[in-house]
Amino acid sequence: MTPAQRVAELRRELDRHTRLYYIENAPEISDRDFDMMMHELEELEKAHPELDDPLSPTHRVGSDLAAKGFLQAEHINPMLSLANTYSVGEVDDFVGRCRDGLMGEDFEIVGELKYDGTSISLIYEHGRLVRAVTRGDGTRGDIVTDNVLTIRSIPAVVEGPGIPDSFEIRGEILLPWAAFDRLNAEREANGDSLFANPRNAAAGTLKTLNSAEVARRGLDAVFYYLIGDNLPSDNHYDNLMAARSWGFKVAPHMQLLRSIEEVDTFINRWDTERRTLPVATDGLVFKINSLRQQLNLGYTAKSPRWAIAYKFPAERALTKLRFVSFEVGRMGVITPVANLDPVLLSGTIVKRASLHNADIVATLDIHHGDMLYVEKGGEIIPKITGVDTDARVPEAAPVEFVTHCPACGTPLIRVEGEASWVCPNKYGCPPQIVGRIEHFVGRHMMDIDGIGEEVAQKLYDLGYVCDIADLYSLTEEKLLNVEGFKERSAQRVLDGLKASLQVPFERSLYALSIPFVGETGSKKLARAVGSIDRLMAMSEEELTVVPDIGPRTARAIREFFAEPVNISIVNRLKEAGVRMEVDSSAQATTDRLQGKTFVISGVFAKHSREQYKDMIEANGGRNSGSISKKTDYVLAGDNMGPSKLEKASRLGIPVIDEDTFLAMIQDED
Ligand code: IVH
Repeated sequence: MTPAQRVAELRRELDRHTRLYYIENAPEISDRDFDMMMHELEELEKAHPELDDPLSPTHRVGSDLAAKGFLQAEHINPMLSLANTYSVGEVDDFVGRCRDGLMGEDFEIVGELKYDGTSISLIYEHGRLVRAVTRGDGTRGDIVTDNVLTIRSIPAVVEGPGIPDSFEIRGEILLPWAAFDRLNAEREANGDSLFANPRNAAAGTLKTLNSAEVARRGLDAVFYYLIGDNLPSDNHYDNLMAARSWGFKVAPHMQLLRSIEEVDTFINRWDTERRTLPVATDGLVFKINSLRQQLNLGYTAKSPRWAIAYKFPAERALTKLRFVSFEVGRMGVITPVANLDPVLLSGTIVKRASLHNADIVATLDIHHGDMLYVEKGGEIIPKITGVDTDARVPEAAPVEFVTHCPACGTPLIRVEGEASWVCPNKYGCPPQIVGRIEHFVGRHMMDIDGIGEEVAQKLYDLGYVCDIADLYSLTEEKLLNVEGFKERSAQRVLDGLKASLQVPFERSLYALSIPFVGETGSKKLARAVGSIDRLMAMSEEELTVVPDIGPRTARAIREFFAEPVNISIVNRLKEAGVRMEVDSSAQATTDRLQGKTFVISGVFAKHSREQYKDMIEANGGRNSGSISKKTDYVLAGDNMGPSKLEKASRLGIPVIDEDTFLAMIQDED
């Protein structure tokens, strides 16, 4: 067998086993055998670069090289939406309209689930995926092929009899509940904002510019629409069955329905059964099966007349209000929270729901002990949507919004034109201080390991950390006094503090919790002003000239630095060695690592992984998420996975520790 034949065989076999694993849940070989085949293919591709193929299974792991943005493409067939209905009666009306439109001809309906993700159009030519495009505005969308290729349940190459030379297949990119929960738990631990539901998470992930990150998050896909000129069948159902046989993960639970009764039964069944599915659904879709009949019925400007969506009613529960608590955020904003008798809603127990602000409490006219309707907006964040006033006891008093801060007793103020009440005692109100400490240590800020919500509170309660600058006077002795701390955990915090001195100015600026100065704003501001001294000296007018800094932010920055406490905190942070200016030496990048690709693995003592990644890039190198023949070095810390180690040694890639790495980028003098 020639190398070309073996390469083709290995690719076909690897694609087949990927499909058995990810689509059919019926693997035939062990992970080890799979890895060995992958390794053989990698070796052959390395030895025969002329046989390389961007769609080879060896390339489907994503790249850490952030893309610059997405190019756009026009859809070959516009991506229309579906008309929505909310009751069985309206679906029956749709069936009636189809019967009239088809002049009494017999017809079949295909019932499907409506998957709640983000839609995608895939274009295949000669069996190869050539383009993946998001819905966009329905006419044009973003080209996200690289990201889509990281989704293992999507075939890059399809083979078999009857596959048209070119076709389009549409479906939904999804983040299954389990992957969604995992992602949000991780984001919470890192202090990142949470995704409200799997739909937002899937859409956000698909538009992530780093395909290695996309690969990591665990997207999946289902397909529900095949379009093209030479399709295998003249009906929708059989076309999807054919697509399934070509290797697509076609929506399961599709059903052919032949009467209104069967349609109604399908609705009743899925109204409850959908809760057992591993992915989010927000309704059902009914489509006329025959393609000829679809053409006869045609389209309105916005949607096909041959299909309709039925949306599940939002799930609602009635439960008793125990009490309303008022919580104080990092910026002093007071959020009213309804604490409820626990109630089961879409599979999870709800005990608390946000009431958002005073206006909402007033509009709902909530009284103590009321029975409240709770709904899950977008399936995940519970909200209070109403009150069962019939169940109210006559003597119940309305819930009043607090006038004083529940944490420190300061009278609350309300910013004109805004719905929120704010505690103005910024520097004396404990939850605000603790919130700022938590923010300061977060991953996108100073990235100090070992301090979360609870530890921040304990450090504050012990009087060790009363503002963010106090963190740098923590000692081993003090840390060992914190409940639950041992030498190892104390050392971790001290190492984290030390490493945080390398964090660039844009992140220490963000870490300060200046109102309205977020992650992106801090980057722009840091680049524009260069140092904290310069920022502190700027007038409101000068600040508004900085790109993307509006009058509100400019005023907030001025007010922030008008407070002597903040000046003192900044000075103490500077004394501790926190970067308060753009590091021109770091900016003046070297090319010591030019053309070298690194994979970082394990836990490090001197700097965080993020910092090592930055150093690699600053010296001209490139980061990658997984070891391949293209890797030049593996930068290994403690606890590096044995499989990675084994792979590196198999491929003969040098594994270096952090000292070796730091020596590599050190100045020669
Ligand atoms: S068919 C022309 N089938 O719902 C008909 N769409 O409101 C094309 N969706 O953009 C769509 N599950 O993102 C179809 N089984 C299903 C679906 C489905 C979810 C989404 C899709 C579409 C939107 C329409």
